[in-house]
Amino acid sequence: MDNYAVVGNPIEHSLSPRIHGLFAQQTGETFRYERHLAPLDGFVESVELFAAGGARGFNVTVPFKTQAHDWVDELDDEARAAGAVNTVVLEDGKSLGCNTDGIGLVRDLLHNQGLQIQGKQVLLLGAGGAVLGVIRRLLAENPARLVIANRTVSKALTLAVRLAEEYAEVGCEITGVGLGEVAGFYDLVINGTSAGLQGTGDLIDASVVRQAVCYDMVYGSSTPFTRWAAQAGAVRALDGLGMLVEQAAAAFYLWRGVHPETDQVLTELMRERAR
Ligand code: ATR
Repeated sequence: MDNYAVVGNPIEHSLSPRIHGLFAQQTGETFRYERHLAPLDGFVESVELFAAGGARGFNVTVPFKTQAHDWVDELDDEARAAGAVNTVVLEDGKSLGCNTDGIGLVRDLLHNQGLQIQGKQVLLLGAGGAVLGVIRRLLAENPARLVIANRTVSKALTLAVRLAEEYAEVGCEITGVGLGEVAGFYDLVINGTSAGLQGTGDLIDASVVRQAVCYDMVYGSSTPFTRWAAQAGAVRALDGLGMLVEQAAAAFYLWRGVHPETDQVLTELMRERAR
């Protein structure tokens, strides 16, 4: 039986085993997929042991995505650009690090939520690992304008300058600002800060989201950011459950060569969490 896992700390609440279990049922693929708690100072030892036992791959979650990037033998383009790995393929004694978070976010926005990115005004909150993992995929969808807003302004500015150079021909206006300076209107506001996990969710002025769809890359039926956005009058306030399912589907394809149907799985998970 092929072995897979999701490696993180904490890990007990991860939905990934449920998602891959539903994909397996649907596609008829058979494998084992488990939660794997790695000590905070023991990621490398943990995954080396897992790989040595003949595992075929694993997902990586908080806080190990950067360490996974440094550990793998090879990187795909997404993971190299992001500096972070969320999916590892183990084959012939080698490890390939991939990043499916960007494709997961974009697929959820476009296919599950029926939104458009092309030609839109997009505001991205945060400039850390989570944002780096998705930002190039967002830019590939040709938004008219992308504003990166971060608590530490210098990080937003540095990232914006680097991307503006990289994407000079794309014609998207890319700028960086501090969270407190964000003004104007946006079509789409995406929270990629880790402040989404606790707190009040009020990262920016409420007037900014009144015509916007707000999206939290964190998942949960009600996250601080989605609660705040709904109260602030956002058009819609979405959490990252669909992104989680889509990044898992892309990982499943890398491992098994089969594309699962994500709609059914997302519907089932929404039903389960509404119970
Ligand atoms: P991750 O990999 O989860 O993105 P990270 O690389 O440490 O983690 O980045 C965390 C992001 O959340 C950063 O953009 C951080 O802002 P700073 O660069 O100023 O640290 C942001 N963040 C974390 N806590 C925050 C808070 N309480 N308010 C606003 N932004 C916060």
